[in-house]
Amino acid sequence: MGDPAPDAAAEAVNFSPLDPELADDFWPRNNDLRERCPVAWSTAHWSADESGFWVLNKHQDVMAAATNWSVYSSADGASPVQFDLDIMRMVPLETDPPLHRGVRKALNKFFTPEALTQTEPSIRATVDELIARCVEKSPADFVAEFTSQLPPIVFFETFLDKKASEIGWIMELIDMLLTQPDRVMEAAPQLLMFLSELLESRRAEGRTDDLAGTIAHMGTGEVDDGLDLDERARVETMNLMVLGGMETTMGALAGIARTLGTDNELRVSLRDADSKTLDRHVEEFLRYDSPVPTAGRTLAQDAEASGCPMKAGDRILLNWAAANRDPEKFPEPDTLNFERANANAHLAFGAGVHRCLGNHLARREIRAAVQAISELSVFELEPGYEVKYRPAFARGPISLPTKVAY
Ligand code: HEM
Repeated sequence: MGDPAPDAAAEAVNFSPLDPELADDFWPRNNDLRERCPVAWSTAHWSADESGFWVLNKHQDVMAAATNWSVYSSADGASPVQFDLDIMRMVPLETDPPLHRGVRKALNKFFTPEALTQTEPSIRATVDELIARCVEKSPADFVAEFTSQLPPIVFFETFLDKKASEIGWIMELIDMLLTQPDRVMEAAPQLLMFLSELLESRRAEGRTDDLAGTIAHMGTGEVDDGLDLDERARVETMNLMVLGGMETTMGALAGIARTLGTDNELRVSLRDADSKTLDRHVEEFLRYDSPVPTAGRTLAQDAEASGCPMKAGDRILLNWAAANRDPEKFPEPDTLNFERANANAHLAFGAGVHRCLGNHLARREIRAAVQAISELSVFELEPGYEVKYRPAFARGPISLPTKVAY
């Protein structure tokens, strides 16, 4: 592996998911890549010392790969740019069945639509509080005041029963992890220590009824889950629970806020929308601006995509974003079309066994935010403001100076 363009039919490109230039020219470059090469060979680095990977760009190929875990394995990493798995593995994301199946089985019940329906009033209350703060400060940076606040507050309230006022320091750590790469080594150990103590306290209480309690006992032999896990894997699971829904949901909320802040007609049209209409809008927003653009896989055996042969051991990048704008799947893909019949065939939450565990929670946060924004008399992005996107694992505007009024 690692030879430039191992298949003469595939075009070699230098496509790197975290390239700052890509962040600023995202859709033209992704669309161009998909149109020129359904499957491309990128010469870029995917880990500190390895380069060269296939990029799958068509909806059909990405879908086929995502739903075939035994060939497209996640056990050697699922991150577009891979960290050392001996230092930190994202569990269950960077595992394959049967281990993956057992962990998901333990976690799924906390993330079903039924389980989350009861969170709707408190999500809406948090949304209203954050909007009130934006109105008070207007013009406010909607990213700093709203989209970066909502996901951590909702997560800690829903799953750990902690109010926003109690988690200031955790919010600061999460912000440091997501926006200040040079301080990761300072913030990560503090978060891991907190999570480790949390699991210990759940075990000391013998508590198994909530998410942390379930993870604390997963694979310990004390519950009948058929899993065999060490403490490190439990902390890694808890860590992904906390971080998996942060940058991702923040990116989604900010991308949508940008659209609503520049299209008043659309915003006002949503004011009295029924829940079906709102849901349709949420799906099309997610298709259109895929907050998590890519994921990594490793081939467990030789495979083929769009006629391109690939070898066991090759590294693969699933380009969810390019697939979500594939005209063969979504006609006129660069247009937001809320009447699109198949918008929910988007891959913004992935597909197959690793399909996003938190998708119903994310959808509820987005729906509550869209509803609240649509009810405002003014929600207007500073005219002429040039929106920049962060070159990160999840995409989202860095800042949105916005006028907000009731
Ligand atoms: C709009 C917001 C979100 C987006 C776009 C998103 C996107 C994704 C995607 C694309 C995957 C699949 C990755 C892969 O196959 O390699 C994934 C997996 C995952 N997501 Fe999300 N996510 C969002 C919100 C959340 C939330 C709120 C949580 C939890 C609180 C969460 C937790 C997870 C977990 C645990 C996995 C791994 C699932 C597994 O491996 O079985 N996500 N997400």
